[in-house]
Amino acid sequence: MDLIRLNANESPYDLPAPLKEEILEAARALPFNRYDPGLADDLRRRLAAYADPDSRGPVTAANIVLGNGSDELILLVNEVFAGPGRKVVVISPSFEMYRITALRIGAEVERFELGPGPAFALDADALVKACRDAAVIFVCRPNNPTGTVAPEAAIDRLLAETPAVVAVDEAYHEFTGLTLAPRAPRSERLIVLRTLSKLFAVAGLRLGYAIAPAPLAERMNRARLPFNVSTFTQLAARVVVDRRAELEPLRRAILSETAKLEAGLAGRPGVTVTPTGTNFVLVETPLSAVKLADELRQRGILVRTYQDEPALRHHVRVNAGRSDETGAFLTAFGDVLSHVKA
Ligand SMILES: Cc1ncc(COP(=O)(O)O)c(C=O)c1O
Repeated sequence: MDLIRLNANESPYDLPAPLKEEILEAARALPFNRYDPGLADDLRRRLAAYADPDSRGPVTAANIVLGNGSDELILLVNEVFAGPGRKVVVISPSFEMYRITALRIGAEVERFELGPGPAFALDADALVKACRDAAVIFVCRPNNPTGTVAPEAAIDRLLAETPAVVAVDEAYHEFTGLTLAPRAPRSERLIVLRTLSKLFAVAGLRLGYAIAPAPLAERMNRARLPFNVSTFTQLAARVVVDRRAELEPLRRAILSETAKLEAGLAGRPGVTVTPTGTNFVLVETPLSAVKLADELRQRGILVRTYQDEPALRHHVRVNAGRSDETGAFLTAFGDVLSHVKA
């Protein structure tokens, strides 16, 4: 049985055929024997223009760092700005790579808990206090998986009142429109992280980018491995970013499927939905998350659980699928809740 994958926040749609064709056609002319015939500089210029369409920063190529997925950039931020024994603050619950990569490089990790669900609010005063001696703080905005949007004033306070590098992860920017990217070049310590793994539908090709003040971007560029992003990926990234208008129907479809998920889950007895404005929702049920995910898996559907997060023992994260997939999930979810005892 082909599983329906609603657990990784990927795009449920592959790239439209004309874009895929253009990438494959351009790849034919790419000299595979060369490390980089200038693609990276060109891509960095295009990403700078995309991240700052009104030239408010202005963001330029000197502010852009390319990564093999934004996961690699998260590791790089920890390596360059934290390092062994220094403190990295991670919000909890949030995207787990902040903690995993910080631990991997020997940093000291402090978890900062959000308030209780379904609001999962962020206490800015307490966060600023936690970051007074931190090297790095990661703020996922909006937060995966709770949808929490840290107020811009909280980011201002982190920059003004703490010594920490403030890494704002905008993986879901294309769905919400929220961004701090134009502020990064003029800031001292604001780094914005982006990815082409979500709306841009090239998760498998691995392209993330950071927008950072030029001196910090330079340090990251010196520390990353040379040629960390393949020329094929850079070429594909150029095509999807240039032709992003053609992804607009996908964006609308994904947001409409997310709305269908919210509407189909809300109002069920014992079920609480936390909307996020992105391509996923967080759902709390009377069942343990492990049990619910297991029952859904038996019905051919994968959702995300959080076994390391005490606050999410009864929550699962579900991303928008194609219309038939979202429908299949809602049917299976109803079936599990009406037949399986908590
Ligand atoms: C908040 C957040 N940051 C980063 C990533 C990873 O992106 P990439 O595929 O570019 O490594 C994800 C993927 O789920 C994410 O949710």
